[in-house]
Amino acid sequence: MCGIVGYIGGQNAAPILLEGLFRLEYRGYDSAGIAVMTPRGSQVCKRIGRVRDLEAALPRRMAGKAGVGHTRWATHGAVTQENAHPQVSEDGRISVVHNGIIDNAMDLREVLIGKGEMFSSETDTEVVAHLIARSDAACLEDAVLDALGQISGTYAFAVTDAGHPDRIVVARNGSPLILGVGEREMFVASDLSALVRHTTSVVRLDDGELASVTAGGFRTFSREQENTAKTPVRVDVEAEDVDLAGYRHFMRKEIFEQPSSAERMLRGRLDERYGTARLDGLNLSPRELRGFRRVKMLGCGSAYYVGQIGAQLVEELARMPADAEPASEFRYRNPVIETDTLYVAVSQSGETADTAFAVREVKRKGGQVLGLVNVVGSTIARECDGGIYLHAGPEIAVASTKALTHMGLGFALLALALGRVRDLSISDGQRIAAGLNALPGQIGQVLAGEPAIAEIAAGLAAARSLFFIGRVRGFPVAREGAQKFKEVTYRHAEAYQASELKHGPLALIDQTLPTVAIVPDDELTDRNLAAIEQIGARCGPVVAITHPGVPEAATGGPRITVPKSERELDPILLTIPVQLLAYHAARTLGLDIDKPRNLAKSVTVE
Ligand code: F6R
Repeated sequence: MCGIVGYIGGQNAAPILLEGLFRLEYRGYDSAGIAVMTPRGSQVCKRIGRVRDLEAALPRRMAGKAGVGHTRWATHGAVTQENAHPQVSEDGRISVVHNGIIDNAMDLREVLIGKGEMFSSETDTEVVAHLIARSDAACLEDAVLDALGQISGTYAFAVTDAGHPDRIVVARNGSPLILGVGEREMFVASDLSALVRHTTSVVRLDDGELASVTAGGFRTFSREQENTAKTPVRVDVEAEDVDLAGYRHFMRKEIFEQPSSAERMLRGRLDERYGTARLDGLNLSPRELRGFRRVKMLGCGSAYYVGQIGAQLVEELARMPADAEPASEFRYRNPVIETDTLYVAVSQSGETADTAFAVREVKRKGGQVLGLVNVVGSTIARECDGGIYLHAGPEIAVASTKALTHMGLGFALLALALGRVRDLSISDGQRIAAGLNALPGQIGQVLAGEPAIAEIAAGLAAARSLFFIGRVRGFPVAREGAQKFKEVTYRHAEAYQASELKHGPLALIDQTLPTVAIVPDDELTDRNLAAIEQIGARCGPVVAITHPGVPEAATGGPRITVPKSERELDPILLTIPVQLLAYHAARTLGLDIDKPRNLAKSVTVE
């Protein structure tokens, strides 16, 4: 969704702001703009479309050493140049870039119009620019505080004042904001990827916190004007992690990173001797872990589907009732929170508004929440009582791949730890630990089959509609398969439990509707093969994602074979081919794979 960048220092700001905006493109946006403090005041340039359109439109002389930039994903007001950020006060002095939503913007706007203010956009953000400009406060920090006192909603703001070009004032409430500390220069960003090329020394603002940023440093303070001493921390992200590194698309790069990233994620977390997992970040003793009677996974979209894999892992390994629910539904239904249920919030970005809200709801009612989160220091990671960092590295492609695999691994570790303080035997624990240790190499084996998968994907790309089917362990894999396929190919793809086919969807099967069937070699293979037979009898083409032990004759058509893992872990490996199927089908169709239409990487609005 929307992205913020800011720069103040000794260099020309415009190219640095533009570069930061290019880095934020992956988040999804529909317009972009920058404001630079030049000796002649604030100079603003905005365009709808891509950052490259903004780059082409920039005036040649836009020289200034401080400025802010933004990529906008429309919420209040249509996609127009006027509605793009920065939003500027009537006198042109104050420039504001904003992520989030101001809830009382309409009321404030009417009041300001009553006082004679003229508005040039439909945005909620412009209201804030006007409020700051109208403040009697002596300095920009106080003027921003004045304005914050009048608004309600969620925000990350970066504000410049042409009258005081030596500083940028930023504020956070519900939307991420990071400062980057350089050598006599400072950076502001809503996302690490926009500043890691310049510095890895960062300060993450908390909700309710502001910062006054100058070329020489920063001061953080609260809404009550108390200093909040913050020390910069080093982040473990290399500039190459956010580069294509020779790949054509981030999605393929991230798919191919999985063998090494999975190995890194598991390193030091498995105790092969006792067949358990070492998870210090849970902040729970074995006795406390034993005290839980149920487990509930909360996440959105694909993270929710992996939550279903996680719930099955917990049921199988720990024999505890477990389920998964979309956090976006959970938060709206006044859920009953039980103190002996362990809640697990799962999120790549750690900023998904629905998931963060669900976490708060659980905590408000006395529940205990763990986080399975990729982005270190993100909102959800900080608000949970403990958790497991996914360590997948930055994920840039909008369609999630490696982070989901890491979520599966994280759930397997959690299930193992829960199982081993209950009834899971040491030998079964050792079996699962060995299975997990083998997974990174097995992912590599699946990826080696890419050419054959690409060929199958090209065939699927021709279909207007597809089914993905699976049963029990295979069903979340089918859901993820359909999700990935529709996200990047814009083809209709629907997931069904294989067991449900005959209860309705079979009516749609004919030679034009292919089905991708997840057929693990397990206790349900025969049932899955029976479903394939029913589809075949109605001339429906079937692609099977299966194991070597499943007879070729039984799956009929094209098949993608993945190495057999421990049966509880099979879903993690079976998901890898559906990533490649979606990627290659989208390539066949010539689509914008890393930035699918209408989607944003991190959904920070409700
Ligand atoms: C699918 C996808 C989304 C996310 C969902 C949750 O490819 O990326 O469905 O899984 O929006 O996002 P996070 O994991 O950041 O909370």
